[in-house]
Amino acid sequence: MSIPQVIAIDGPASSGKSTLGERLARTLGYLYLDTGVMYRAVTWVALIQLGEVHDESAVTKLAQVIRIDVRPATVSDGRKADVLVDDVDVTWEIREKIVDANVSEVSAYRGVRKEMTEQQRRIANRGKIVMVGRDIGTVVLPDADLKIYLDASVEERARRRYLEIISRGGEAELDQILSALEKRDLIDSTRALAPLKIAEDAIVIDSDPFSADEVFNEVLKLIYAHSD
Ligand code: DC
Repeated sequence: MSIPQVIAIDGPASSGKSTLGERLARTLGYLYLDTGVMYRAVTWVALIQLGEVHDESAVTKLAQVIRIDVRPATVSDGRKADVLVDDVDVTWEIREKIVDANVSEVSAYRGVRKEMTEQQRRIANRGKIVMVGRDIGTVVLPDADLKIYLDASVEERARRRYLEIISRGGEAELDQILSALEKRDLIDSTRALAPLKIAEDAIVIDSDPFSADEVFNEVLKLIYAHSD
């Protein structure tokens, strides 16, 4: 009997995908890859090196030359993985507001998506992986053994994001988070390339009424129900 080896989790920003994905991977002994961090890493490097992200060809060149490593967390400061760019730890830098504000633009660039998609497929070739993103079930890994689309209302996602920032000792305004999420949802789901959408064979879970534990248990049940 074998359970799904390649698990794709997609959904909008702050729907709980990474919490779910990381916990599933840890429980199953699989590799965990949150692909959003790769687009964030490119955005962060572009902001540092170019000062902005509007030059598509310059940003694409950067995406092709930087080395992004995503490894199991080595520091227990709330991170789900270490994210390194050319050996520099950028795990928290890529979560800054300026990255949030620019990452949707960068992730709409054709050359950036091509490069990230190739890297993600190479990583998935190793097998036993939980990969999280926007286009994993639709574009990156259309043959994934199990596809989950984790949804939640924008109000609930804003509330969770707010609590997450506050619990890390940060400062946040709920209204600002809500409007930033609405803006990113719009760009992510209307862009021409690999927009956020539900794969035909994905199982949709609306997490609004559920805790993270309940969502995790539900997906674990699905995984064992999918075994052959
Ligand atoms: O999941 P996140 O918020 O960290 O993702 C950051 C951005 O990257 C988000 O605006 C959409 C984009 N993204 C994407 O286009 N494709 C993916 N597979 C993952 C993320």
